[in-house]
Amino acid sequence: MADALQPEAQEYALERDCTTLSRHVLQQLQSFSAEAQDLSALMNRIALAGKIIARRLSRAGLMEGVLGFTGDINVQGESVKKLDVYANDVFISVFKQSGLVCRLASEEMEKPYYIPENCPVGRYTLLYDPIDGSSNTDINMSLGSIFAIRQQEGNDTDDSASDLLRNGRKQIAAGYILYGPSTMLVYSIGKGVHSFTLDPSLGEFILSEENIQTPKHGSIYSVNEGNFWQWDESFREYIRYVHRSEGYTARYSGAMVGDIHRILIQGGVFLYPGTVEKPEGKIRLLYESAPLAFLIEQAGGRASTGTEEILDVVPEKLHQRTSLIIGSKDDVALVESFIQKQAAEQSEKMKRAQARVPQ
Ligand code: AHG
Ligand code: MN
Ligand code: MN
Repeated sequence: MADALQPEAQEYALERDCTTLSRHVLQQLQSFSAEAQDLSALMNRIALAGKIIARRLSRAGLMEGVLGFTGDINVQGESVKKLDVYANDVFISVFKQSGLVCRLASEEMEKPYYIPENCPVGRYTLLYDPIDGSSNTDINMSLGSIFAIRQQEGNDTDDSASDLLRNGRKQIAAGYILYGPSTMLVYSIGKGVHSFTLDPSLGEFILSEENIQTPKHGSIYSVNEGNFWQWDESFREYIRYVHRSEGYTARYSGAMVGDIHRILIQGGVFLYPGTVEKPEGKIRLLYESAPLAFLIEQAGGRASTGTEEILDVVPEKLHQRTSLIIGSKDDVALVESFIQKQAAEQSEKMKRAQARVPQ
């Protein structure tokens, strides 16, 4: 028969089980101020959305009408999956009657969604990608949800949401939920990066790891090499370098949340460069790159467009896309060095061409 837990171990287990997400936020802020209570409640609602989505995903293969496409095309021009719509609605529902979030903006909605009953009190906007990695939905592979919280300005029916057209440093909190073998929630309120694992027996996200630090360098490179001939030459040169060098390993799952989670923990770099078809790349700034950039910076890593820090990019529109290079500091810098080299060579070529033209 197994020994009963020693008193210290028992105390530790109890303490760990009680380190829930909402308690952790309050601990981080070392305050019970109204703002701290708001943030704690916001994270608690996001966690509830994660639990509802995780429950649906865990039974998707047993239920009718959960998987597959709806037949619609979203504002991004992409085919919508039934789970995209479901997860989008989950986030709206959990914030109804919450007094917390006045406006939600998501990948799946052309315009921001207002919850008028929350607006007199809740001056926050939730930006989110309800299901990241939609192509994985029908094959039981990892998926994610990405979120960010920003303070809200402007009036409560403004479709232009021009106050959101600010850089990523305006984010108050950001994170993701990873639906994998277990469901994890990783978040930051600007005080480090912390991960939580959903304990199904408690129905709570319990602290797994505090103050996660991304290694300065890692062996992983994560990119869709099927787009190789659509990239700028600098990215091709970087990939050729990786192929020639020892110590690199490719990992690409089709769901950025999973790929970036791996890099957060083990180091390396994830890239989604612009292509001929999509010069700005595929990843959207406000609810994909900026929240992930906020997290990775908090973990000591970096996120760049190639020429600018992701967190400094000021979008011109809600659904703006950016080229994305994110991960370990040294690996992001290495990719950037290929971009800089290419730019320098091009400008040299131009100078020589101009010098040849008779004045
Ligand atoms: P989403 O499912 O929200 O549209 O995002 C998918 C993103 C990202 O998660 C993933 O890494 C990438 O798109 C995959 O795109 P490709 O199939 O073009 O590689
Ligand atoms: Mn996505
Ligand atoms: Mn999505």
